[in-house]
Amino acid sequence: MNLLNNLSLKPYNTFGIDATARFFSAFSSLDELKGLLVFQAQQKLQRLVLGGGSNVLFIKDVDGIVLKNELKGIKLVKEDDRHYYVKAAAGENWHRFVMHCIENNYAGIENLSLIPGNVGASPMQNIGAYGVEIKDVFESLEALHAESHSIQTFSADDCAFGYRESVFKKQYRNRYIILGVTFRLNKQPVFNTAYGAIEQELEKMNITQLSIQAISQAVINIRSSKLPDPAKTGNAGSFFKNPVIAVAHYEILKQANPAMPHFAVDEGHVKIPAAWLIEQCGWKGFREGDAGVHIHQPLVLVNYGGATGDGIYALSEKIISSVKNRFGIELEREVNIISI
Ligand code: FAD
Ligand code: EPU
Repeated sequence: MNLLNNLSLKPYNTFGIDATARFFSAFSSLDELKGLLVFQAQQKLQRLVLGGGSNVLFIKDVDGIVLKNELKGIKLVKEDDRHYYVKAAAGENWHRFVMHCIENNYAGIENLSLIPGNVGASPMQNIGAYGVEIKDVFESLEALHAESHSIQTFSADDCAFGYRESVFKKQYRNRYIILGVTFRLNKQPVFNTAYGAIEQELEKMNITQLSIQAISQAVINIRSSKLPDPAKTGNAGSFFKNPVIAVAHYEILKQANPAMPHFAVDEGHVKIPAAWLIEQCGWKGFREGDAGVHIHQPLVLVNYGGATGDGIYALSEKIISSVKNRFGIELEREVNIISI
């Protein structure tokens, strides 16, 4: 157990927030993790399990212990006529896992290329992009109960996946440590090109024969052109969820805002792009000190270098209240706010 004291978390979160952890340790085996949990319980410390740190905002120093998941391993555990069942340890980098699947012709997650972070956090908010969410390919996961140290298996139903939601973000928050996830991937690919600019990008790439490799590259190209690279500008992707509102509310808003984009969710609800709402309120490209709203994608809040977590948080409060005042829509944060 390599326990560190008063460690800066700046290299461990893509927002680049310089918060300090009272204790920090990485673990790369189940025994190491259990040992750390015993230490944490003895010392009565609060605990944060961290993957790639690409969906967290530290709004103060962590007065507890940060456990960085470095469990590794990818294994084809089973196959049948239609599927490969592939298990990846929680500490595997998500994009590297996607690339591994593409190299082996395991189809189904190519649209999720280039999402930062690790496999272990992918079920946490049911990561999604370009028309695919991990619930579409999820078979099961194994997680350690932090108090009893029992290992439990969760099916998709157990996880209660929703749009950027799961049971681990809600009632089981901080109770389990996800150890590994098994994905059900297709032998025969089902190409998903309907979303956003994928088709235009494939055309630009002169692709005549669709493949999972081509779709992955198209998604990588689109994402690289739209989203800020955290290695250059601190951010955690979309800061807010796209709000889902009642059709009746949308009909009222449409009268004053005929150009308001919307996407059908079900008979009674539509999703409104938060980026549009934030842009309409004049925030696009806004900067206050080193905290800002990205110039091309206003759903992404950015740290130009020296912003603090509470500075970013304060900016998010102002955005929420201006969108609420103008449209009567309450934006919900997607990023996990860490205040232990
Ligand atoms: P972390 O930030 O380390 O952790 C996130 C949360 O999960 C924390 O609450 C943490 O405690 C918990 N957690 C982490 N690992 C475990 C574990 N093993 N067991 C239990 N709890 C755990 N997300 C999307 O869905 N779609 C996108 O298109 C997308 N694009 C992004 C683009 C950029 C540029 C960035 C920076 C982020 C983007 N995100 C996107 C958000 C982010 O990449 C995902 O949420 C990702 O799954 C976070 O993984 P992580 O390992 O970095 O999690
Ligand atoms: N828009 C504007 N102004 C802008 C940019 C966008 O009005 O400056 C509007 C446009 O109407 C556009 C719409 O927003 O059509 C949607 O924009 P985009 O396609 O960029 O996607 P998004 O809704 O902003 C969501 C996810 C992303 C995911 C992409 C692609 C959420 C919260 N965000 O973004 O996920 O990569 O779709 O599927 O659902 C993340 O979760 O961190 C993330 C980046």
